[in-house]
Amino acid sequence: MSAAATIPSTRELGERAQRMIDALAAISADPDRLTRLYLTPEHRRAADLVGEWMTAAGLATRLDAAGTMRGALPPGRSGKSANKALLIGSHIDTVIDAGRYDGNLGVVAGILAVEVLKARGIQLPFGLEILAFGDEEGVRFPVTLTSSAVAAGTFDPATLDAADEAGTTLGEALKAFGTDPARLSGEAYDRPGVLGYLEVHIEQGPVLEASNEPLGVVSAIASQSRHRVRIRGEAGHAGTVPMAMRHDALTAAAEIILEIEATARKGKKHSLVATVGHVEVMPGASNVIPADVRFSVDVRAADDAARKAAVETISNFARKIDRRRHVVVGFETVMEKPVARCAPRLQKAIGAAVSAVQGKPARSLMSGAGHDGQSMVQLTDFGMIFVRCRAGISHNPLESVTIDDMGAAVEALVGTIVELARQESGPS
Ligand code: GLV
Ligand code: MN
Ligand code: MN
Repeated sequence: MSAAATIPSTRELGERAQRMIDALAAISADPDRLTRLYLTPEHRRAADLVGEWMTAAGLATRLDAAGTMRGALPPGRSGKSANKALLIGSHIDTVIDAGRYDGNLGVVAGILAVEVLKARGIQLPFGLEILAFGDEEGVRFPVTLTSSAVAAGTFDPATLDAADEAGTTLGEALKAFGTDPARLSGEAYDRPGVLGYLEVHIEQGPVLEASNEPLGVVSAIASQSRHRVRIRGEAGHAGTVPMAMRHDALTAAAEIILEIEATARKGKKHSLVATVGHVEVMPGASNVIPADVRFSVDVRAADDAARKAAVETISNFARKIDRRRHVVVGFETVMEKPVARCAPRLQKAIGAAVSAVQGKPARSLMSGAGHDGQSMVQLTDFGMIFVRCRAGISHNPLESVTIDDMGAAVEALVGTIVELARQESGPS
């Protein structure tokens, strides 16, 4: 067999990606929907499977103390960059009832890119590390991006006390997963040893499909914050307490939630969006006036100041409602990230690779969704390749990406790595 015959075609790469994504999608907490939360047995099984693929691709694997599966390829030649590594990653946790491509495609694309480089006999002047993070979604604990924050060296140990709905803290969950929280601080990469961070991710929006382009270059990730609101009222009999004498926590919450929507609608100029995605009502019986309501608020915008102003409007409204409705309102910020900008040099390299693969200029677009790059930007330059997904649907089992687009994404990732290798191989 000739050497060229072992080089997979773009179509074959897409088919491989699909098979790997389907294998990961079979690892779920629920038999009939995909749910894989951070530090659960499902997360462990998915990390182990990714580790097997990494080993088969010739990477040296290790599960770090935050549950990130890391696969390392040493540099192929000596030179000024031989003590540096280019990091490539994404996440293998999912939302509840998830689509199968969000995050998982980026991890699979990284492994397939290594296989392509090897098949083409390309020797890189730097090392590669493929990272399968476990907590991009922030669904299990009220904190997010834990595993990439550990890699970036920005993990806040105070978050070890954050608890999931069952009352298990992040620290306890790490121990149950088999790792030692005391080791987290030692898992940060050394800045001088890192060349940059690249991620392939589905767009999760409709722009690329509308413009008939398989791939795009991310310019930045939107500013984002998450908040928790708690309203304490008073339980009472649904049949006997007159309307004017109630301390109904849920009707107060309803007013605040509508104000959140109205505030976000006014911020179109800055792509302001706000979402209440999780509400708990206690005691939760049809004949009891709600006494205690907790809900989440997620606010994002293309501009930090616009997001902060919206949060202020919402929290002031929430705090003022208590006198009028005879309830006590608490508003807490649990996560806040500024706009994360992709490095111009990586945008340029990705843009050239994407243009070459898709045969037309690469579109630059902002990400409204959060990504591990929001952590990694604090360590190193980061760049992202977006992949078209059907109707822009994501966080939904209907999420869909074509085989050809996945193959193209792997090719664009390889092209970007090769371009960075060319730049690093310049005169030392
Ligand atoms: C993750 O997908 C997020 O944007 O919240
Ligand atoms: Mn994601
Ligand atoms: Mn997601």
